[in-house]
Amino acid sequence: MRKLLKHVAVALIRELIRHCRWRKIDWRKLFFAGAVMSIAGVVLPTLLFTYRRSIWFLPSLVNDSSHQSLNGSVHLSNNLTETRSERFQLVPTAPFVSFNSSTEAKGRHRVSRRRRKRRRRSKIDDGPQVIPPPPRRTVSPRLQRYLRSLSPDESLLYAKMEIEHAPAVDNDDDSYLYAPIFRNVSIFERSYELMEMILKVYIYPDGEKPIFHEPHLLGIYASEGWFMKLLEADREFVTQDPVKAHLFYLPYSSRQLELALYVPNSHNLRPLSIFIRDYVSMIAAKYPFWNRTHGSDHFLVACHDWGPYTTSAHRELRNNTIKAVCNADLSENFIAGKDVSLPETAIRNPGRPLRYIGRGNRVSQRPILAFFAGNMHGRVRPKLLKYWHNKEEDMKIYGPLPIRVSRNMTYIQHMKSSKYCICPMGYEVNSPRIVEAIYYECVPVIIADNFVLPFNEVLDWNAFSVIVAEKDIPKLKEILLAIPLRRYLKMQINVKMVQKHFLWNPRPMRYDLFHMILHAIWFNRLNQIQISQD
Ligand SMILES: *[C@@H]1O[C@H](CO)[C@@H](O)[C@H](O)[C@H]1NC(C)=O
Ligand SMILES: *[C@@H]1O[C@H](CO)[C@@H](O)[C@H](O)[C@H]1NC(C)=O
Ligand SMILES: *[C@@H]1O[C@H](CO)[C@@H](O)[C@H](O)[C@H]1NC(C)=O
Ligand SMILES: *[C@@H]1O[C@H](CO)[C@@H](O)[C@H](O)[C@H]1NC(C)=O
Ligand SMILES: *[C@@H]1O[C@H](CO)[C@@H](O)[C@H](O)[C@H]1NC(C)=O
Ligand SMILES: *[C@@H]1O[C@H](CO)[C@@H](O)[C@H](O)[C@H]1NC(C)=O
Ligand SMILES: *[C@@H]1O[C@H](CO)[C@@H](O)[C@H](O)[C@H]1NC(C)=O
Ligand SMILES: *[C@@H]1O[C@H](CO)[C@@H](O)[C@H](O)[C@H]1NC(C)=O
Repeated sequence: MRKLLKHVAVALIRELIRHCRWRKIDWRKLFFAGAVMSIAGVVLPTLLFTYRRSIWFLPSLVNDSSHQSLNGSVHLSNNLTETRSERFQLVPTAPFVSFNSSTEAKGRHRVSRRRRKRRRRSKIDDGPQVIPPPPRRTVSPRLQRYLRSLSPDESLLYAKMEIEHAPAVDNDDDSYLYAPIFRNVSIFERSYELMEMILKVYIYPDGEKPIFHEPHLLGIYASEGWFMKLLEADREFVTQDPVKAHLFYLPYSSRQLELALYVPNSHNLRPLSIFIRDYVSMIAAKYPFWNRTHGSDHFLVACHDWGPYTTSAHRELRNNTIKAVCNADLSENFIAGKDVSLPETAIRNPGRPLRYIGRGNRVSQRPILAFFAGNMHGRVRPKLLKYWHNKEEDMKIYGPLPIRVSRNMTYIQHMKSSKYCICPMGYEVNSPRIVEAIYYECVPVIIADNFVLPFNEVLDWNAFSVIVAEKDIPKLKEILLAIPLRRYLKMQINVKMVQKHFLWNPRPMRYDLFHMILHAIWFNRLNQIQISQD
């Protein structure tokens, strides 16, 4: 069979070359044809030589050793662990990576093409210098077949156990992931790679625009919209077959919900939560997936302040579903380890989300110790102004930035000229300033008690930010001055290194903001799984 395929391929190439001699060579077409052929070369044999699971290791994993409980956690007897160690002798960790297969070469080619394009673009754009991530590791066909033979629950279990035994990564200097900004870079890298190998997301097609399926891409709540836009366009993680899915996306926008259903000045949010309750009830009646886990493998992504509230009328939605929200407030039903803290990003130009980012001043050209400008929302900011407005020359703490000041030096220039950027909570704990500070390479100082910081499960915020308790506002300057210069310099480098994880690339790249959000949801889904010891 393989021989036959080879013959067909050779014949096709000959035909193609003959063709090209006569006409002007269209390299685009040629590349396309080449891609089609190599994909066929990989896919066809796998389809043709359907794999017999019985010759694979882990024979009895499928039904007798694991079962799914109602709340979506999967229990497992010791026997799987035993078979697993057996498997490990057969498949050592190394074969996960095979750097010479055709898919690898294609991946690299794609990246370098993209890199060239981006370089060209960056000449006209003043965005950050985007360093392309390394290509995805290639999974050996053997492991691919093994993973394909697992049910969604079994593959989650597999991932969970793999992450627990993540090999320590030797983080050399030219590594794309910068270890100091992570809690444990080995665990993150392994979890991320497993996500790429395994994760499938099902997007419910139900729901009418504009509340569903219509991303809102502008303003401070844009991260829910960008996530929706990029996920709906994704080909890697999204599956059309819900039976294969590990996660189910409820594709609504909390911002659109507000625009469509909130009656201004009514102070009545109830209609929003009722609307979502009815949607979830409809999904639960129409499909078997909700009731299977009571919603714990479902997720939503909502950046509006009212995001958490939109789930309040449906008990299972509120208690079980993974909520990726900007308003990640422990005092408002946010559960760390289950829910995901979503960064708030202010998008001014949906066509070019990366515009103006980066290129902050060197530390020696940051004369301002601390900077804040903004409206007097919430309980913290008035206190901040009370203690620090117009008090010290190097503490630029304003309300809304006065025009006489901004005429000389814009908001962004202030951020680029300050050592620390103060990010006090507004009405809600999150603030787009945190990500802005990271964009302009200013160390964020976060003042918001009960706030779970974005990607807290993998990022070590102490490495690149200062967290100040609300009660310590009077001591703010003291706290900042007590930080030794050496530590500050390290934090400032770390801010630069974490920047790439907070960028909305119009075309997603590995480890960027889109993938960080998806990873956080994946990671927390794995968190829900328990490996029972009996
Ligand atoms: C496992 O499930 C298959 C069908 O999915 C069934 O034929 C087989 O008997 C089951 N094995 C055990 C040990 O229950
Ligand atoms: C899920 O249910 C099992 C019992 O079926 C229980 O032991 C476990 O604590 C529950 N997990 C969660 C997260 O509620
Ligand atoms: C585990 O597997 C062994 C055989 O490999 C079997 O004898 C034993 O009963 C199994 N234990 C459980 C808890 O299924
Ligand atoms: C890939 O590398 C392995 C050894 O690392 C080698 O045995 C195999 O032949 C190589 N395959 C190709 C297609 O080059
Ligand atoms: C990171 O996690 C791995 C796997 O659990 C562990 O072996 C390693 O010691 C951890 N590294 C650090 C720095 O904690
Ligand atoms: C799921 O449960 C709800 C309420 O318990 C019920 O109304 C609905 O019909 C169930 N859905 C399916 C698909 O069985
Ligand atoms: C689920 O929600 C109810 C309120 O309807 C609450 O009383 C209960 O404690 C919640 N359960 C869990 C496990 O959080
Ligand atoms: C204008 O900005 C410069 C720095 O760009 C600063 O040195 C100067 O003092 C500012 N002038 C006023 C009036 O604020």
